[in-house]
Amino acid sequence: MSASLKLNQSDDTSNRPSSMRSECGTLRDRWYVACTSDELAKTRPIGRIILDEHLVLLRRKDGTPICLLDRCIHRNAMLSEGRVRNDKLICPYHGWTYDSTGQCVDIPSHPEKKIPAKRCLESFPTLEQDGVVWVYMGDPDDIRCEPFRIPFFNSDGWRTYYMVTAFENNVTNCVENFMDVPHTAHVHAGWFRNTSNRPIRTDVERTADSVLVTYHQESDTIGFTDRLLNPSGAPMKHTDHFYMPNITRVDYTFGKRQFIITSQCTPVGPMKTMVYTTISYRCGPVHNGMLRFFLPWYTRKVIDQDVDILANQSRSLQRYGADYMQMPADVVHLYIESLREWAENGETGTAPAPIEREMTFHA
Ligand code: FES
Ligand SMILES: [Fe+2]
Repeated sequence: MSASLKLNQSDDTSNRPSSMRSECGTLRDRWYVACTSDELAKTRPIGRIILDEHLVLLRRKDGTPICLLDRCIHRNAMLSEGRVRNDKLICPYHGWTYDSTGQCVDIPSHPEKKIPAKRCLESFPTLEQDGVVWVYMGDPDDIRCEPFRIPFFNSDGWRTYYMVTAFENNVTNCVENFMDVPHTAHVHAGWFRNTSNRPIRTDVERTADSVLVTYHQESDTIGFTDRLLNPSGAPMKHTDHFYMPNITRVDYTFGKRQFIITSQCTPVGPMKTMVYTTISYRCGPVHNGMLRFFLPWYTRKVIDQDVDILANQSRSLQRYGADYMQMPADVVHLYIESLREWAENGETGTAPAPIEREMTFHA
């Protein structure tokens, strides 16, 4: 069989999207975090999975990140285990070499052969911003949005760091956990909050693409606030935001001191999510310095407690499916699910209407 005949035979199977990517409606038309800037060196490619699609990322010499499908068009070897040389990606198996557009530019065993442009590796729009590398998973000729901006990233007086965590659950359940207050007194007992059984009044608002919760709990605290974050005992302001399709932002404000947790959830597979958490805080020069040593250890402990409970929920969901009983405090979950399901179904039918309501629960 000739080489050209082999190439033609596999034409209809190249670059086929994963079923998760092709069946997620407009959730595909979004930017997702693929890695932190620090994870992507200039010297070697890395592999990542988004919407069950295997991707390879590399940097050109000028630092620009590139993202291609992680699948050599020759015999399917994973290019993420290959090499980068002179802005080209070299397959680890037979050395076929790709440029940053995904075009194969060298076949070592047949230097005279040219690969037609239509047999390029699929490439994905890529952008580096606020300490992470984003990949757009929709139509590259019809980019419909911009990546989320991390609040106060590198702003004067602020400190920010990233934490990267694998969760064995889907994006919906992860964002719901990050917006969920009732679990904190149980999953994080003694670490984040203790149960006081006090009523907490909230205002909940759903817009076309977000859910905002404002908590009226001015006299409340979070685990370490008294000593480091809020030594003067200022009233606590607490808001939680969900931004479609996969981002949460939790704000605690104590006078001029602020503590913000932003979680960007990248869908890896149906029950696997990679979460890029940004911790941003502004507590004055002295306390900023002290928190720098304490916070990474503390936030890792709290996030790992959520990893465990979400793995627990995931195992049960896979046995019994999502058969839930709702309470008023679950309205935040229902609003998030309504927006994500609307997008997952291709934004057809009636869109979730904007709504505002009050809700009180004990925690
Ligand atoms: S599988 Fe990549 S060069 Fe052969
Ligand atoms: Fe939690």
